[in-house]
Amino acid sequence: MSLSITRRTAALGAVSASLAACGSPAAVAFPAPASRQFPTDFIWGCATSAFQIEGALGEDGRGQSIWDVFPREAIADRSDASTANDSYHRFGEDTALLADAGLKAYRFSIAWPRIMPVGAGAVNQAGIDYYAGLADACLGRGITPYATLFHWDLPLALQATGGWTSRDTAQRFADYAAEIGARLGGRIKHFVILNEPSVHVFAGHVLGIHAPGLKDASLIGPVTHHQNLAQGLAIQALRAAQSDLAIGTTLAVTPSRAARGWPFLNDRAADGFDAVWNRAYLDPLFKGEYPKAARDFVEASVREGDMDIIRQPLDFLGVNYYAPAYLRFDPSSDARIALGEPPGGVELDAFGRHIDPSGLWQLLQRVREQYGNPRVLITENGCSDPFSTGPAVTDDRFRIDYLRRHLEAVKSAMEAGSQVGGYFHWTLVDNWEWAEGYRSKFGLVAQDRASGARTEKASYAWFKALAESGALPA
Ligand code: FCB
Repeated sequence: MSLSITRRTAALGAVSASLAACGSPAAVAFPAPASRQFPTDFIWGCATSAFQIEGALGEDGRGQSIWDVFPREAIADRSDASTANDSYHRFGEDTALLADAGLKAYRFSIAWPRIMPVGAGAVNQAGIDYYAGLADACLGRGITPYATLFHWDLPLALQATGGWTSRDTAQRFADYAAEIGARLGGRIKHFVILNEPSVHVFAGHVLGIHAPGLKDASLIGPVTHHQNLAQGLAIQALRAAQSDLAIGTTLAVTPSRAARGWPFLNDRAADGFDAVWNRAYLDPLFKGEYPKAARDFVEASVREGDMDIIRQPLDFLGVNYYAPAYLRFDPSSDARIALGEPPGGVELDAFGRHIDPSGLWQLLQRVREQYGNPRVLITENGCSDPFSTGPAVTDDRFRIDYLRRHLEAVKSAMEAGSQVGGYFHWTLVDNWEWAEGYRSKFGLVAQDRASGARTEKASYAWFKALAESGALPA
């Protein structure tokens, strides 16, 4: 199992193993669910994103995105996403796989550069037609489409004018949202505005391990605020275009825990990380203000009226969960914060992520207790399989165990009062996993790289049984 420095293990500076040996309590205790039966209206689905699955980057008038030009040398296996799952052509197969698994919802993302090749101005009708066809393929199979408007593939032309560092990008995003609402809102009724804006800030603009590959901590403020502003403007634009939509946004709400070693200092580090990673998105959305600790970063970008735009009522909050973060004080970094290693003895997946279902329970508890208990959809959760070759790829008991344990946490949080309405597994087919290339495999379905042929894994059958019965196996 390789433990390369990924976006999860690298946030906010260099990773040092120096305090790792000390460890920290692995998990927060949570009660086992009293019943393993999910409600009959619970939504079971899968999640994907355009750039990770579509391929066909040069087809039908699509413009380039920031990921099209991200250097292959920065990708673990030197691959690119020019083919990926070829879902641009094979979405019929994908939607059939979803339907055969009894899934009732599909979260995909719309590639902004397919709709507006240079991020502004004329709409590319072929792009609209593609997503209309995808939505129809879903609807024809009884699957509700959930479309994410921005899953990190910013039109390249907008990066040339500053990307998310520029306030103007927020307005361009609202224009794009208005076009989507007007042209696709008749078919697609569920929208997720942003995907994990904090990951886009840090991986893309501070650490440079994602597109646009910038390494400048001074961008945290503008990129955070302009995404928040864009989200508010886009919600308004969608609602103005079509009145019967269910709109949410997806945050990587990550439990932030102090690594053991320096209790007081590491607690401060965990709180600082929490402010810029979690509260800088949750607080503006639900409370109309930035947390005090994030104000120094964002205040230069905030203009009068912005906070009212950002604080929009949501039909649901999307949360993605993979692992908690362990933080430590780091005197050598500008931010004085670095990620500490997870405590010794914890399980890691092939992506280097700590496997800890209690983090999911903890974040649901937090949203329930601190943010008014909104309706929540788990818009991503899953794991990268450590077995990249051989029969274990499809006999993926590791994934089944991961899902079972995380869904126990979900059910337990629901019994405590969390309003969780659905769960979207990340992901359907093994795909192109950003800086990890094809090395990370998160799918319920394997893909032959040469032919593109899909093979269902054991987890696919397991998830199907769950989606059809709502009963979580012991
Ligand atoms: C999430 C991303 C998704 C995928 C999974 C593994 O952070 O939203 O695109 O990379 O991680």
